[in-house]
Formats: sequence, C-alpha cells, structure tokens
Amino acid sequence: MNKSLILSTGSYLPKKTLSNDEIALMVETSDEWIRQRTGITQRHIADEGELTSDLAVSAAKNAIEKAQISVDEIGLIIVATTTPDKTFPSCATIVQSKLKCKNAFAFDVQAACSGFIYAVTAADSLIQANNRIKYALVIGAEIMSRIVDWKDRSTCVLFGDGAGAMVIKSAAHCDETTENSTRGIISANLYSDGNVDVLYTSGGISSTGDSGKICMNGREVFKHAVDKLTASIEETLRCNNLKIADIDWLIPHQANIRIIEAVVKKLDLPMEKVANTVDQHANTSAASIPLALDYAIQKSKIKPGSLGLLVAIGAGLTWGSVLLRY
Ligand code: ACO
Repeated sequence: MNKSLILSTGSYLPKKTLSNDEIALMVETSDEWIRQRTGITQRHIADEGELTSDLAVSAAKNAIEKAQISVDEIGLIIVATTTPDKTFPSCATIVQSKLKCKNAFAFDVQAACSGFIYAVTAADSLIQANNRIKYALVIGAEIMSRIVDWKDRSTCVLFGDGAGAMVIKSAAHCDETTENSTRGIISANLYSDGNVDVLYTSGGISSTGDSGKICMNGREVFKHAVDKLTASIEETLRCNNLKIADIDWLIPHQANIRIIEAVVKKLDLPMEKVANTVDQHANTSAASIPLALDYAIQKSKIKPGSLGLLVAIGAGLTWGSVLLRY
C-alpha cells in the first residue's frame, strides 16, 4: 500500500497578464521569436502589493476547499519557492499564519524549478515517519517577475508568476473500504549534480545582500533538461517494471515546449498524454507542475485511478520525478 494519496489540487494565477507583444515594447524581441523558440504566448504577473505567500495562500485555499477538510487537520505545510517574501521566516510559516493552520509544522524547500517534486517527495516521506500527520499541504509558489532582469531579452521572455497546491492524505488515516489502496504516491527519484554555472542568480544574501537577477546559458540548460528529464522518467519506468505505454499522463516542468517535445519524442509518448500550460503560464519555476496538474485535473484529462508522472529539472542542477496513481 502506498504511504499517501492525492486528495485535491488547487491553483492561483495573478489577474494581470503580459503578452509577447507587450514584452516586445520593452526589449528587442518579437511574438514570433518567443513562440517559435519556447511555445510561450503570455505570462501572469503579480501586482505590486502581491507577495509569494499571497499567491500560495490563494492556491492552498482552493485545494483545501476541494479536499473538504478543516485547516486544523493539516499537520504539515511545505512551500517550494525560490522567491520567498522574506529571508526568514519561511514562506511556509507565513502561509501557516495566514491560513491559521495551528496544528501544522511548516518549512520551505528550495530546489529551484524542481522544488515541487522535492517537496512532494519530502511530504510523502514525512507522512510515513510521523503518524500524527493526517493531511499535508504542499505548495509551489513563485513571483519570478521580481528576479527577472527586464532588460535581458534572453531570459525575461521565459518566466511568469503563479502558485499551485496539493492536499496529500496519509494512507494510514484512510478508510480502506472507501479509498482504493492502489492510489497514491508510488515512487520518486531525486538528483542534483552541483552544476551551478549554467543557471543562477547574480546575487544572494551572503554575497551581494540582495536576491540578484536570473542568469542562464540557455543552450546548455536545454541539453541538460532533455537528457536528465528523459533519464529520470526511464529510471522510474525501469524501477517499477513499467513500459511507457502504461503511463496515462505526464506533467513535465513547464519551461519550454521544445524541451517537452524533445523528451516526449525520445520516450515515444503521444503528446496527447502530456500537459502543456507553458503557452499560457510561461515558466513559473516551482509552481509550474502543480499549476499544470490542477489544470489537467480541471479539464478532466487526469481521471481517478490513472497512472502518471511528474518530472522536473531546475537550477543546481536539480531534477527528478514522482510516479503516482491519481
Ligand atoms: N528575442 C529575439 N532574439 C533573441 C532573444 C529574444 N527574446 N533571446 C535571444 N535572442 C537571440 C540571441 O541573442 C541569439 O542571437 P545571435 O545569433 O545574433 O547571437 C539568437 O537569438 C539565438 O540565441 P540562442 O540562445 O542560441 O537561442 P536558442 O535557440 O537556444 O533559444 C532559449 C534560447 C529559448 C532560451 C533556449 O535556449 C531554451 O529554451 N533553453 C532552455 C532554458 C530554459 O528553459 N530555462 C528556463 C529555466 S531552467 C528550467 O526551467 C529548466
């Protein structure tokens, strides 16, 4: 029996959108270039007064409402983010305060674009280790627009803001007669390789005293992304004695449609099984997977009992995948 299962998902996107044409008024680029190279058509941008914790709370409330649970029943909150409100306290404890989740313990995970995969895996393991946790709230939330250099056309066209959330239930607290024991998180693999020179920010608290802006060797990241995402999925299949045809749906990190297409081609997976929200959301880093997952569930592309994979890569480099039966 799996340790935990997905009870619900939720999401939040800031109201304001920024089209490619609008970016073309700010830097030398074009809608055509951005669409062709990335598949992105627009991104959502947080209002000046909006904080990452605000986005996270809105997504969390959405997921909690669908799960039909009380905030008092949540025992664990993990927020995956690279753009927290403050250096400390963690974004997760600020979310805890805003939601009045008095019975949870809370912390942040920083694994860049792989953050949500790391956070889900951590929640699944903590649920096994701590029988007191009945429900865990796992959130990916980012305001990437605040760490983008809006004068750098090679990076500013790629990112957006948003948040996605998931309520996970401990299998130990499930009623066997009503909840199918084959559902839930089946396995995960996580990696990092210490390659910190291809994707990073120009600053940080102990170096420059500010967050810095995104710097990236796009071509290198592209190659690593295709290779590592493919390898992670293949490992998951191998370790679980599965074939690619057994996978009903794939939610890859939404960085660039060309990366997704290259991975899917290598695996021989039909594109109909693959989520694509990068066109509307752009790259929302740790929020991209829960946003795409919630979108696919809302559109009934993911049915209860179906088998799927979450897979991501981000700065560090960090990467990995989670296999689950919804
Ligand atoms: N508009 C117009 N021209 C541009 C732009 C732009 N926004 N950005 C770069 N160019 C120009 C470059 O200056 C270059 O011009 P030159 O030939 O005169 O020197 C030309 O376009 C080609 O640049 P490349 O960087 O080689 O373009 P490439 O085809 O590699 O596409 C891209 C760039 C889209 C960034 C691609 O490398 C990519 O997607 N890499 C993956 C990076 C990524 O997704 N990062 C997200 C964070 S990491 C993650 O989430 C996994």
